[in-house]
Amino acid sequence: MNRFYVTTPIYYVNDAPHVGHAYCTVNADAVARWHRLRGDETKFLTGTDEHGQKVADAAAKNGVSPQEWTDRTSLRFREAWDALDVSYDDFIRTTEPRHFETVQKFLTQVYENGYIYKDTYSGLYCVSCEDYFTLEASDEGKCPVHGRPLTQMEEDNWFFRLSAFEDRLLEFYAANPDFVSPETKYNEAHAFIKGGLKDISITRTSIDWGIPVPWDDKHVFYVWYDALINYLTAIGYGRDDDEVQEWWPVSNHLVGKEIIRFHCVWWPAMCMAAGLDPVHHVQVHGWLLVGGQKLSKTMAAEGGVRLTDISPVLLTDEYGVDPIRYYLLRETALGNDGDFSLEGITARYNTDLANNLGNLVARVSTIVAGKCDGVGPLPQAEAPLRDAAQRAIADTTEAWNRFAPHHALEATWGLIGATNAYLENTAPWKLPAGDELRAVLGNALEAIRIVTILATPAMPSICQQIWERIGLTGSPTDGLVGDTAQWGLYQPTNPIVKGEPLFPRIKADS
Ligand code: MSP
Repeated sequence: MNRFYVTTPIYYVNDAPHVGHAYCTVNADAVARWHRLRGDETKFLTGTDEHGQKVADAAAKNGVSPQEWTDRTSLRFREAWDALDVSYDDFIRTTEPRHFETVQKFLTQVYENGYIYKDTYSGLYCVSCEDYFTLEASDEGKCPVHGRPLTQMEEDNWFFRLSAFEDRLLEFYAANPDFVSPETKYNEAHAFIKGGLKDISITRTSIDWGIPVPWDDKHVFYVWYDALINYLTAIGYGRDDDEVQEWWPVSNHLVGKEIIRFHCVWWPAMCMAAGLDPVHHVQVHGWLLVGGQKLSKTMAAEGGVRLTDISPVLLTDEYGVDPIRYYLLRETALGNDGDFSLEGITARYNTDLANNLGNLVARVSTIVAGKCDGVGPLPQAEAPLRDAAQRAIADTTEAWNRFAPHHALEATWGLIGATNAYLENTAPWKLPAGDELRAVLGNALEAIRIVTILATPAMPSICQQIWERIGLTGSPTDGLVGDTAQWGLYQPTNPIVKGEPLFPRIKADS
C-alpha cells in the first residue's frame, strides 16, 4: 500500500487564524482527502508554532503567561479547522512534551555530528518574521516582508554550520529536480544556495520561552529551529524509528512562498546534519492578497485591511463550509498569488456552484421525480457522455496527484459542463416517458455520481448530500477512486430526492 504524509506549516499563535492560514490548510486537507480516496495510507499534520519572541510579546501584551496565551490561541486554530471540515490526523503544538523530546534528540545528534558551535552574533532582526536580515537584504534597514524597522541584536549563540552543506545541497537539488515545486520556487531556492550559505545562529539567551538546549541550559533554541522539527516529532523521531522509516520518505510540506528558505535550504541541511534524508517534497503556494496586500495582522494594523472581517469562521457562517473550501481551492492556482474578495466568492458560488452543479442536480432530479416516479434509470454502457467522463476522471486524477487542486476542480467541472450541454441537446424535459428519456437521465445521473466522487476532497459534505439525493447509499468515499470513478456503475437503491436548492443564489450586492 502507498503512503502519503502531508503537512502544513505550524501557525504562529500570536494572533487568531485568518483566511490566509485557511487557504494553506484547506489545500493540504483536500490533497490528503484525495490520497485517502486513492487508498493511500495517509497522515495529515497541522498544528501551532508556540515559542519565540513574537508569541511571548503577544502574551505579555495581553497580560497572561505565554502558556495560557498559547493554550487559548491554539484552540482557536482547531476551532477554525473544525469549522472548515479539516480532516487532520494529528495536531501538533510545539509546547508538547513529545516535541521537546524530539527537538532535543535531533539537535543533540546534529551537535554530536559536529555541526553546532558557539560564537557571538550581531545582526538586524525582525520579530514578526522571527528572522535575521543582512543590511543588504533589508529594505534600507526595514523588514522587506513587514516594512517595519529591524532591531539590532547581539547575542552569544550556538550556530549551525549551514555553510558546510552548500555542495551537498546543490548535489541534492541536481539529483532531485522535483524536490520543490513549482519550478520557479525550485529555482529560487537553488539560486539562494548558489549565492553562498552563511552559518546560522540557532539559540537565544534573550528569551526563555523556548526549548532548552540540552548541553547548555542558559540557551533556548531559536523558534524556527524548534518549529521545523515538528514534522519529525509527529512521526516519532527519537521515539519510534520504524515510524520515521515509513513516513519520512513520503513526506510533503505545503508552505507559503515567504518561508522557502527555511524549508528548502535550512531544513534539508539540518536533516543531512542529523544523518537523515531531507523531506521528500516541498510544495510552495503563493499569498492571498486583499487589494494587492498580503493578509497579515501586522499589515491590518497598519494599513486598514480588516482581517477580523475575514476570519475563516465568519466566512463559513456566511457562505457555507463547502462553498468556501471550493473558492479557496478553485480560485487561485497553487503557487501563484491570488486576489481574495467577497465579490470573488459570490461570483464563483453563483457560477460554478449554483448555475452549473446545483442546476444540474436540480434539473435531473426534477425530471426523474416527474417522469420516472423518482426511480433513477441506469446509464448506457456506450453513452455520448462517457468520453467526457473519462477525460474528466483522467485529468482530475492527474491534477490532484500533482498537488494542483485548482486544475483538478476545473477538470471535474468540465464534466458538469459537458453534462449540462448534453441535457440542452437532448432536452429530456420535452421527451416522452420511454427508453430514450431513461437513457438520457441515467447517463446524466452517472455523470453526477462521478462528479461527486471526484469533487469530494474539495466539498465533502455537499458531495455526500448529492450522492444521497441521486438515490445512492453509503458515501462517495466508500470505494477507492480507481474502482468507483468508472463509467457505468450508477445503480440507485433509493428514490431520487428533489430537496431544497443545494446552492441558493447569492445576490451580487449582498
Ligand atoms: N510559524 C511559521 C511556520 C513554521 S513551519 C515549521 C509561520 N507561521 S505563520 O502563521 O506566519 O504562517 C504560516 C503559513 O500561513 C505560511 O505558509 C504563510 O505563507 C501562510 N499565510 C499567511 N498569510 C497568508 C496569506 N495572506 N495568503 C496565503 N498564505 C499565507 O510562518
